[in-house]
Amino acid sequence: MTSVQQREIWNTKVGLVFALAGNAVGLGNLLRFPVQAAQNGGGAFMVPYFISLILLGIPLMWVELAIGRRGGVHGFGTTPGMFGLLWRHPMARYLGAFGVLIPTGLVVYYSYIVSWCLGYSFFSAAGSYFGEDTRTGMGSFLDGYIGVEANQHFANLGAAYFFFAVTMLLSVWILSRGVVRGLEMLAKVAMPVLMLLGLVLVARVLTLDPLPGNPEGWDISHGLGFIWNPDLSSLTSAKVWLAAAGQVFFTLSLGFGAIQTYASYIREKQDLALTGLATAGVNESVEVIIGGTLAIPAAVVFFGLAQTREIAEGGAFSLGFLSVPVVFQQIPAGQFFGCLWFLLLFIAGITSSVGMSQPAMAFLQEEFQISRRKAAIMLGVGLFILSQPVILFMEFGFLDEMDYWVGTFGLVVMALMEIILFAWVFGMDNAWEEITRGAQLNIPRVYYYVIKYVTPTALLVILGVWGYQDAFGVLMMDGVAEEAVPYKWGARLLLLALLLAIMYGIHKRWGGQPPDAPEHMPKEGDA
Ligand code: TRP
Repeated sequence: MTSVQQREIWNTKVGLVFALAGNAVGLGNLLRFPVQAAQNGGGAFMVPYFISLILLGIPLMWVELAIGRRGGVHGFGTTPGMFGLLWRHPMARYLGAFGVLIPTGLVVYYSYIVSWCLGYSFFSAAGSYFGEDTRTGMGSFLDGYIGVEANQHFANLGAAYFFFAVTMLLSVWILSRGVVRGLEMLAKVAMPVLMLLGLVLVARVLTLDPLPGNPEGWDISHGLGFIWNPDLSSLTSAKVWLAAAGQVFFTLSLGFGAIQTYASYIREKQDLALTGLATAGVNESVEVIIGGTLAIPAAVVFFGLAQTREIAEGGAFSLGFLSVPVVFQQIPAGQFFGCLWFLLLFIAGITSSVGMSQPAMAFLQEEFQISRRKAAIMLGVGLFILSQPVILFMEFGFLDEMDYWVGTFGLVVMALMEIILFAWVFGMDNAWEEITRGAQLNIPRVYYYVIKYVTPTALLVILGVWGYQDAFGVLMMDGVAEEAVPYKWGARLLLLALLLAIMYGIHKRWGGQPPDAPEHMPKEGDA
C-alpha cells in the first residue's frame, strides 16, 4: 500500500536536476526548436524566445515545482490531488484531471516517434536508406516505414511495430523500477551520454565543408547566420510571439502536469529556486547550442537557404527524418554519424517519454493503490492500445490533431489554470512562501509580481489571440480535407474518452468525500 511515508524521494540533488533535465530535453530541443526558429525569422525568433523564457518559462517552472513539492508532502503525485490542496473545492480535483490527460495523451504519440529514432539509428548503421539521396527518396523511405505506402524498403508495418514494441518495453521496465532506481538511474546515464553525442555532432557540423559544385558557396557560417542573424522585422508579428511562447512551454515540459509529478518526489526542504534554474539552464544549453547548431545549419550547407526554408515549413519530421539523412549520405563515415544523430534523438526522447508517463503511474499507484509493477504494465498495455489509431491512421492527421489539442493548446490552458489557483486562490503570499522555502538562491522580489500579474496576463493574452486567430479555425476544421475529417473526430473522441476515464477515476476516489477533506492519508485497510 502506498502511504505518505512510503513515497519515493530523489536520491541526490544532481540526480534530481538530471531527471528534470532529462524530462525537459527531448525531441523538442533538437527538432521542434530549430524548425520553429527557422519558420519565424531565425534570429528574430530568439528575442521573443528569451523574453518568454524569463517572463513565462522560469516563473512557471518555479510554480510547478512548488505545487508539486507541496503535493508530495501531502502524499499527492498528480494535479488532481495537488489542485485540491490549493483550492478546497470539489471542482479543483476535476480540473486537475487535465494534468493527467495531457502528459498521457502526449505520450500516446510521442513514444511512437521516439521509436522511429531507434529504428533510424539502426537503419543508419546498416546503411539501409543509403542510396535514397534526395529528400523525396527519403520521404518514400519514411512512408514505407510508417506504412503509408508499400515499397522496396518496407512491405508493411513490421519494422515500425518492432521498434515501437522495444521502446515500450524499455519504458515499462524503467517505470516499473520506480523513481530512484528507474527514472533517476536512467537520467544519470542518459544525460552525460546525450551531451557527449551532442558535442561530437556539433563538432562535425561545424567542420562541414561547402559542397563541391555549390554555386553560391554556402558554408557553415551561412547556416549559423540563418538561425542567429536577427531580423527585427518579425518582432511585431503575433505569430512569432505565439510560436516563441509555445516553444518555451513545450521544451521545458511546462503546462503538462509532468514537472509537478517529478517535483512531488522532492524533499520538503530542497532548494526549488536553484533546482528550477539549473533545469532550465541545462535544457536551454542543449536547445540553443546543440539544437540550434545541428540540423538547420547542416541543411543550409547542403541544400542552400531557399530549400532550407522550405524544409522548415515542412516541419520537424521533414527536417529530422528526410533532410538530415541526405546530409549523412554525403559525408565521410556518414553511417556512423547518422547512427549517432538518431541515437541522440532516441536518448533525448526516451527520458522525456518516461517523464510523461510518470503522472499516470503516480495516479494509478496513489489513487487506486495499484502496485508499481502492475501500474507500469497496465500503462504499457493501455498506451499500446491507444496508440493504434495514431500508427494506423498516420496519413490522415490523427497525430497532428492530438498534438494540437494536448501538445499545443492544452498546455496554455493548463498553465493558466494552475497559476490562477496558485497565485490567486491559494494566494500570492502563500505561493511565495512555498516557492522560496528552503531556497539558498534568492529569487528577485520582482518575480512576486511577475508570477502574480505578468505571467497570468501573458497567458490570457496568448490564449485570447490564439483562440481567435487559430484554435477556432482548427476546431471547426477549416481547410481540412474531406477524407481526414472522420479521423480528426476520432482523435478528439479518443482524448475525450481518456479525459472522462480520468474524471471517473477522480470521482471514484473522492466522490463521496466532503470538499474540504483533501488530505490524502491512506489508513490501514484503505486499499
Ligand atoms: N520537453 C520535451 C521536449 O522538448 C517534451 C515534452 C513536452 C515533455 N511535454 C512534456 C516531456 C511533458 C515530459 C513531460 O521534447
